[in-house]
Amino acid sequence: MIWSLQAAPDLTDQQFDQWSKLLEERAGICLSDQQRVFLQTQVSMRMRELGHSDYSQYYNRVIDGVNGLMEWSVLIDRLVVKETSFFRHKPSIDFVRNYLQEKINNNDVNGSFDVWSVGCSSGEEPYSLGMTLNDCYEFARREPYYGIIASDISRAALTIAKTGVYPQRKVEMMEPHYRQRYFSQLENGRYQLGGALKERVCFNHANVLNISEMPTIKLDVIFCQNLLIYFRRWLRHEIMNAFVERLKPGGIIVIGLGEVVDWVHRDITRVAVDEVQAYTHK
Ligand SMILES: C[S@@+](CC[C@H](N)C(=O)[O-])C[C@H]1O[C@@H](n2cnc3c(N)ncnc32)[C@H](O)[C@@H]1O
Repeated sequence: MIWSLQAAPDLTDQQFDQWSKLLEERAGICLSDQQRVFLQTQVSMRMRELGHSDYSQYYNRVIDGVNGLMEWSVLIDRLVVKETSFFRHKPSIDFVRNYLQEKINNNDVNGSFDVWSVGCSSGEEPYSLGMTLNDCYEFARREPYYGIIASDISRAALTIAKTGVYPQRKVEMMEPHYRQRYFSQLENGRYQLGGALKERVCFNHANVLNISEMPTIKLDVIFCQNLLIYFRRWLRHEIMNAFVERLKPGGIIVIGLGEVVDWVHRDITRVAVDEVQAYTHK
């Protein structure tokens, strides 16, 4: 029987260890034993596309030099969970809205209001933040002056993010006034995000594990949800520490509820708001 019609061979314990170690080393993502089938399915599907039938042979290809890195960038896209939606966690987005609103009211916004969406997937998160920030400036009758950096390890997700074209079901889930204001419907029923908002967001391919090598731009808001949960506890803490280095004085870090526990930093305090896990300078 030809390989493409065969069921994927089972990963041995040793092969599972080898692949999950590589994923953790390179992306921070820590797989549980229950995710063995997921890993096996994704890796074997890619092997099938390339005509490989042996996990170890394909592994050697992935770790081999520059070509290996190119193959890795295809494979990693299959191994990450990219699930996202517009205004996914409304209380967190509203927290950012209130934060900026208050700064504007107190005349405390000096220059550009800068946000980083870390692990932005296909762009719904940074664009939701953009719509929210626009609301704040408009409400205050001020010219919008903000920028959003949005980064992800998946090139495929970033390609979608940059085009700003989304399926009907995703766009129709958000409040109608956002859809009417920021999107136009294409002939195929999909929605295209308008240029003005798109231009506010700068998408970057970046691995958050390399945060220490990233330029140390200072930010008002670091928004990182549904990413740290895939990392080990010590790594979550290290990344939170690195986020602190990138905050403007008084800036905020907003993560997903319960994604980091037992993290303390001498300069940082948790903000007391229900349903939101956010931190600011003491
Ligand atoms: C579940 S999605 C979350 C998207 C969005 N933040 C949200 O909450 O809706 C997780 C995203 O993190 C990205 N990711 C995973 N590991 C990463 C890493 N080491 N560096 C940067 N992005 C990563 C994935 O590609 C994926 O797009």
